Amino acid sequence: MATQPQPSRSEPDSTKARVASPARARAPGKIILSGEHFVVLGAPAVSMAIDFYSEAEVKPDEGKRVKIGIDVPLRFLAKSNRASRVTDSQGFLQPLRIAAQATLDYIDRSAKGIDVNVNCEIPIAAGLGSSASTTVAIISAVSKSLGVELGRKEIFKLAFIPERFLHGKPSGVDQATCIYGGTIEFTRPSSVRPIHANNDPLLLLCDTGIHHQTGRLVRSVVRKSRIDKEHFRDYLARAREISRGVSKALKAGDSEDLGSLMSQNHELLQKIGVSHPKLDRLVAAAKRAGALGAKLTGAGGGGCIVAVCSNTKSRDKIARILSREDGTPYRISRDLRGVDAHFT
Ligand code: MEV
Repeated sequence: MATQPQPSRSEPDSTKARVASPARARAPGKIILSGEHFVVLGAPAVSMAIDFYSEAEVKPDEGKRVKIGIDVPLRFLAKSNRASRVTDSQGFLQPLRIAAQATLDYIDRSAKGIDVNVNCEIPIAAGLGSSASTTVAIISAVSKSLGVELGRKEIFKLAFIPERFLHGKPSGVDQATCIYGGTIEFTRPSSVRPIHANNDPLLLLCDTGIHHQTGRLVRSVVRKSRIDKEHFRDYLARAREISRGVSKALKAGDSEDLGSLMSQNHELLQKIGVSHPKLDRLVAAAKRAGALGAKLTGAGGGGCIVAVCSNTKSRDKIARILSREDGTPYRISRDLRGVDAHFT
């Protein structure tokens, strides 16, 4: 994989400290239709921004340099974390603080204090890009509030700083999807291609309620790929074919092909050990209920499945059946805008 350059920007001309103006930014969540994990090893992934959002609001603050707060609806926390409201912990807030601080350092180290509040309407640690979405929204809102319009490539590079803190070895696919919106084929930071789909596939997400740590799962796959080189050579070749096929199926609006390729991708993810019995149960139940195909989406180990449905009636039926299997279904559609910032 190409090394990710550290963002750097020339020092501001003025010696006067910049004062933030109130600003907001919104960024979508994401799903991965094919190629998760294999993208870390060099294969392409196909991902889609979805209509679940996080929003960051920035205000000037006279006190500490960076004040961070976050609100997450209780229903979007993992069942095991609801009682303790885990978002209060420093572990969750730290990447957000890192994103805000990295943006201040990039734009103007002498800038005065800011107060950042994040509202995350994306299930947490469920493979839907809650961390990439929140950090991208923060970078965008903080820069806007300081009067600097960062380009999408600059936001992308900055987002590697909190993503690396969280995941160790992120490919960049999560933040690229949240920044650009729409559907993309991502091979590496220098190869991000939009996919222009004719008809959007009809998709259903279903959350297992078991949430995961992306970093641990990514590290375990990287480790396995070094030990079991022979099998991984085949898996990678297959993952490349699947992602190419998924791009083609999306462009052609062929949901049957898309579904079949996504089911094959799920089998590949099972082979590398990132599935979970509940993910497998939901994938099987979705297919039995009439889905054209289904797979886990994101890092695995819990989180969500995504199923391709032939029509809305069938999607409703699949949603009902997945609820009976103790899953939480979400009807989703594609976000087209990506990240978006404005003054308030
Ligand atoms: C997580 O959404 C996707 C992974 O491939 C990790 C990454 O690409 O950074 C598992």
